[in-house]
Amino acid sequence: MRIILLGPPGAGKGTQAKLIVKDYHIQQLSTGDLLREHRNQDSDLGNEAKHFMDAGNLVPDGIILGMVAAEFKKPYLDPGYILDGFPRTCPQAQGLDNLLVDHNQKLDHVLVLEVPDEELIRRLTARRSCSKCGYIYNLVFNPPQAEGICDLDGADLIHRSDDTEATVQNRLKVYQKQTKPLIDHYEQQGLVRHIDGTGDVKQIYQRILTAIS
Ligand code: AP5
Repeated sequence: MRIILLGPPGAGKGTQAKLIVKDYHIQQLSTGDLLREHRNQDSDLGNEAKHFMDAGNLVPDGIILGMVAAEFKKPYLDPGYILDGFPRTCPQAQGLDNLLVDHNQKLDHVLVLEVPDEELIRRLTARRSCSKCGYIYNLVFNPPQAEGICDLDGADLIHRSDDTEATVQNRLKVYQKQTKPLIDHYEQQGLVRHIDGTGDVKQIYQRILTAIS
């Protein structure tokens, strides 16, 4: 199964991707996570991406497409994948179309998670994630048992530098302008399933299962 998860920042793409991955034995490919790994490793790519990310702007298409093309060559994606946070612009969608042809692959679904802006801001400013396993918490909706510590492995929780209210507002604008138009691109391919992204995490996951099964 090959899925794109589309939706604004904070819509729950990462949260839902982790559930799908577990049940369907496929892989999550998150360009945001890959970029953060590069930043942690202090690589040239990470340093180049840093100021775009911290301002809530998109990293240039050439960087993203090069990074994703390299992942597509790796066998871990062979059983299937969820693209989380990619593609985000028309040139990226075109680049993905080309990669799919090159690898003789087809997409099964494009899931669009829909959540109102006020809820997105509430979710993102309270997000914390594990520095080791990446598990996603929320100080309001899903807090860890001990403050600042991951329940699963005891590692420190981090607050993403782009989760401040001002940066989140810009990320929402960028989504409306550059990413939302992609929904039309995939509507034309008959792949889009709109998912109500409000309510309980498990309830939303049920809606996803209904849409993809
Ligand atoms: P990226 O890491 O992709 O961030 P994003 O798309 O902005 O999405 P988020 O990770 O913020 O949100 P999410 O939808 O995954 O929500 P989550 O499940 O964590 O990108 C970051 C930056 O990298 C970009 O701004 C850009 O600079 C760069 N970048 C990345 N990809 C790029 C690309 N392709 N092209 C160019 N630049 C790129 O949930 C959020 C919070 O809500 C959590 O606290 C969670 O616990 C909580 N939550 C989830 N579901 C619920 C629920 N149902 N009820 C209550 N709380 C919930």
